[in-house]
Amino acid sequence: MSARRVVVTGLGIVSPVGVGVKHAWSNLIAGKSGGIVPRSGNGSFNPKEWLEPGDTKRMADFSQYAMCAANQALTDAEWTAPTDAQRERTGVCIGTGIGSMDDITSNYTLYQAGGLRKISPMFVPKVLCNMAAGNISIRYGFYGPNHAVSTACTTGAHAIGDAMRFIKFGDADVMVAGASEAPLQPLSLAWVLQDQGPGNRVSTIALRRHRGHSTKERAGFVIGEGAGALVLEELEHAKRRGAHIYAEIRGYGLSGDGFHITAPPNDGAGAQHITYVNAHATSTPLGDEIENRAIKSVFADTQLQQGLMVSSTKSATGHLAGNIDADAGFDLNYVANQAQERTIKAALTNSFGFGGTNASLIFTKYE
Ligand SMILES: *[C@@H]1O[C@H](CO)[C@@H](O)[C@H](O)[C@H]1NC(C)=O
Ligand SMILES: *[C@@H]1O[C@H](CO)[C@@H](O)[C@H](O)[C@H]1NC(C)=O
Ligand SMILES: *[C@@H]1O[C@H](CO)[C@@H](O)[C@H](O)[C@H]1NC(C)=O
Ligand SMILES: *[C@@H]1O[C@H](CO)[C@@H](O)[C@H](O)[C@H]1NC(C)=O
Repeated sequence: MSARRVVVTGLGIVSPVGVGVKHAWSNLIAGKSGGIVPRSGNGSFNPKEWLEPGDTKRMADFSQYAMCAANQALTDAEWTAPTDAQRERTGVCIGTGIGSMDDITSNYTLYQAGGLRKISPMFVPKVLCNMAAGNISIRYGFYGPNHAVSTACTTGAHAIGDAMRFIKFGDADVMVAGASEAPLQPLSLAWVLQDQGPGNRVSTIALRRHRGHSTKERAGFVIGEGAGALVLEELEHAKRRGAHIYAEIRGYGLSGDGFHITAPPNDGAGAQHITYVNAHATSTPLGDEIENRAIKSVFADTQLQQGLMVSSTKSATGHLAGNIDADAGFDLNYVANQAQERTIKAALTNSFGFGGTNASLIFTKYE
C-alpha cells in the first residue's frame, strides 16, 4: 500500500448542540443536549450567511446543512484551491441516509391534489442523495472525486473512510468529507414513533420516551438532524502549506472488507494505544449490548479497560443520556453526564447501519 498518509486539517459542524465547532464543543462538554438544529441565537444555523437568496429555496435542508459544514471546514483549513490544478486534486465525499424525504412527501401530496403540472422540474435534483456533494463541488469548483455514500447510520464513517482512501490511492490530495441529514418531517417521525409490538425490529428502535419509560433502561432511538464535514489532506500537502493538523486517520475498517470490529486493524494503532471509543450506541437494548461486548473483546486486557473512556455523542445530538446497567456488562468508563479531561493519543469510532453495514475509524494524534 502507498505510503501516503492522511490528516485532518479542517472541521465543520451543524448540530442540535450548535453550529460551529466552538459552540458545539462547549455545549457537549457542558452536557447540553438537543434534537433540532437551532435557527436563532448564538451558534445557530442561518442559511443567509452561507447561501445566495435563491439557493435557500433551491436546496433541500440536508444540502444546506452540508454546505454550511463544508464552508466551516474549508475556512478552518484555510483551503481555497486557488489554481485549476489544485481544484482538480480536491474532491468531495458527502453522504446522506435518505436525502430530502420532506420534498418527496410534500410533492406527492401536491401531485395527488393537482396532478403532473404541480411537479417542478427541479424536484428530482433537489431530493437526490448526491446533491449536497454536488452543490459543494459546484460552489467551490472542486473537480476531484465527487462521491455520495448512503449507508444508513454508517454514512458519515464510510464517507470519511472512503475519502481517506481516495487520498491514499492518489485520486486526490484534499477531500471534503462527511455527511448530512435533515429527517425531521412527519413521515420519518411517524416511523420513529410507531410501535408494532414486541419482537418487531422497528419497535425495538422506536422512540419510547414519549410514553414515559424510565430513563434507566435503554430507551431507544432518538432522531436528530445536522451535518458534519472534515477537510482531509495528504500529509505532505498539508505540511507544505503549513496547515494546522488536528489528527491523522490511521485505520478504516468495513465489515466484509478486510477487518472487523472485533479484530484491531493492522494498518492502525494497536488497541493498547486507544484510550477513547466513540460508540455507535443508538440506545437500543440489543445493539448497545452487542457493541459493548465487542468493545470489551477488543480491549480484553483489564488494564486496557481501566484506561479506556467510552461515550457517544448521540446522547447530546439526538438521544437519551448514557444508561448504564452494570448487570448487563456495562462496566466500562462511559463518561456519562460529566465531562472528563484527558489527553487522547488514539480514538476509535464505531458506526453500524441498517442493512448490516458496519464501519470503524481510528484517529490518532499526528506525530
Ligand atoms: C456565544 O458562544 C461562544 C462559544 O460558545 C461564547 O464564547 C460566547 O460567550 C457566546 N456569546 C453570547 C453572546 O452568548
Ligand atoms: C416540492 O418540490 C419542490 C422542488 O422541486 C420544493 O421546492 C417544494 O418545497 C416541494 N414541496 C411543495 C409542497 O411544493
Ligand atoms: C445546488 O443544486 C441545485 C440543484 O438541485 C441548483 O439549483 C443550485 O443552484 C445549486 N446551488 C449551488 C450553490 O451549487
Ligand atoms: C455489524 O455490527 C454488529 C454489531 O452492531 C454485529 O453484530 C455484526 O456482526 C456486524 N456485522 C459484520 C458483518 O461485521
